[in-house]
Amino acid sequence: MADLMEDPISGVSAEQPSGKKNHPKKVRVVSESLKRFRETHALAEAGGPPEKIAAQKAKGKLTARERIAYLTDEGSFQELGLLMETRCTDFGLKDKHILGDGVITGFGRINGRLAAIFSEDFTQLGGSLGRTHADKIAKLMDMAADARVPIIGILDSGGARIQEGVDSLDGYGEIFYRNTKYSGVVPQISIILGPCAGGAVYSPALTDFVFMAKGISHMFVTGPEVVKAATGEEVDFETLGGAMTHASKSGVCHFMANSEQDCFRQVKELMSFLPQNRAEKAPAHETKDPADRKIPLMEKLGEMDPRRPYRVNHIIWWIADDHKFLEVHHDFAKNVAVGFIRLGGEVVGVIANNPSHMAGALDINASDKAARFIRFLNSFNIPILTLVDVPGYWPGVAQEHGGIIRHGAKILYAYSEATVPKVTLVLRKAYGGAYIAMSSKLMNGDFNFSLPSAEIAVMGPRGAVEILYSRQIKEAKEEERDALRAKLAKEYSDKFASPYQTASTGSLDEVIEPAQTRKRLIAAFAVLAGKRIPGEQTRTGNIPL
Ligand code: HXC
Repeated sequence: MADLMEDPISGVSAEQPSGKKNHPKKVRVVSESLKRFRETHALAEAGGPPEKIAAQKAKGKLTARERIAYLTDEGSFQELGLLMETRCTDFGLKDKHILGDGVITGFGRINGRLAAIFSEDFTQLGGSLGRTHADKIAKLMDMAADARVPIIGILDSGGARIQEGVDSLDGYGEIFYRNTKYSGVVPQISIILGPCAGGAVYSPALTDFVFMAKGISHMFVTGPEVVKAATGEEVDFETLGGAMTHASKSGVCHFMANSEQDCFRQVKELMSFLPQNRAEKAPAHETKDPADRKIPLMEKLGEMDPRRPYRVNHIIWWIADDHKFLEVHHDFAKNVAVGFIRLGGEVVGVIANNPSHMAGALDINASDKAARFIRFLNSFNIPILTLVDVPGYWPGVAQEHGGIIRHGAKILYAYSEATVPKVTLVLRKAYGGAYIAMSSKLMNGDFNFSLPSAEIAVMGPRGAVEILYSRQIKEAKEEERDALRAKLAKEYSDKFASPYQTASTGSLDEVIEPAQTRKRLIAAFAVLAGKRIPGEQTRTGNIPL
């Protein structure tokens, strides 16, 4: 007897002799449902109309789907909500049928590790955010937080979808709420690759890291035309809110790229230093770089004039495994350098005063930059290495009136609050309040080291002499004053311009041999490796500072 079998995919019917294997006839007939499925998906995946895609390309931009392809491992992306559409019928939206509602959402792998990704499609209604668009992002964020994987947003949008009125504003509310709720739970990264205007800028500002590409990304609360109408100032898009502006002036942007491809390369590099969530450790890498590799530059530091500037980045490169340092906020508040290295294969976050800029003093921007980075590291179980060469807080009316007291306090708070392993090395100067601020022992530093050439004091010799001996200097003959100053400064330096008074009180654990820097730091972090169990600490969100 013959059974009538139907292929569940092709819909082809095949006559089957009983008890024999299924051999469908080689007739390719596609069922109506499959045809519809394929056509709908092809339409949804195509994005906007060809002329909009051409306009996107003409600006040097990739499409939303190409961006995901660049970022994720081939074939790994699993999409969600491809066929979702807006429920709004006003202003002609009813007939537009924008499948996916201008945003692609889903999960993909980046170098094998899972991430939640959304990518706004400027070729569809300008990537504007309507309620469905927002719901898709919010749903993805909830799933990412449940699955404990990082959230990466690629933003390219005209902002709140004007046709949808307050529904689109509420959509942003949904997203901001989740940016905050999942802050310190999973890493959140924003990649700006187009316009990002109005209140829309606040989602990236709530995330941990913001990437921008030169000539492609623009962020502002009000655009050039509104600025002109409100204040009379004339400014172009790039100057007002381009990548360089936000990387160097406002500090909104952490990483600046020369192109979209360069941007995705940098995102992948950053991801390689991050844990998937707050309950994990950052991924360690094996290294052949010997722990006892000597650092000749450390010895030279001791021979240098203490006022001579140098770029602390060189010191960090020398200390790091394989000389790899991923700097965060490279162009902003250069008086402090922050970023990621590995030591003995383990990820470490570095905070270092940089004497080549403002003598390495702490000012408002440097305080904000360092404090927020420290809080990120503490949220995600990344140990902290602090390299100190700081003459103090930067003086001036602008700093005082701008709130250096309020901003400077953020560093004290961030270090005191941090429960991850903290190792501090004083390279040269550590004066006054800034000495305390830079992860000093009594602010709960774990290992506090210094080089033999370090100077740890309330202030530098010149300033101290002017205060301590002002009467003697005034009473001396004018031609003898400089010699007197020099003599008194030498006496002061002999007493304080060394680390030994601090070591004698226990505020330094040890003065170390410069050649042994790497070995001692790696050993200290190894001792502290079990200090905090990832995920066991009280959660701290990474509030924008
Ligand atoms: C609906 C929008 C849109 C929006 C752009 N489009 N922005 N549609 N709502 N917010 C549409 C355009 O009508 C156009 O549709 C298509 O997207 C491409 O836009 P163009 O203007 O042709 O592109 P371009 O010249 O590159 O200019 C891009 C732009 C400009 C600078 C982003 O479109 C613009 O200024 N848009 C408005 C930005 C804005 O003010 N947004 C609201 C911000 S307030 P067609 O059909 O012609 O292809 C906000 C509040 C958030 O976001 C609050 C959160 C709390």
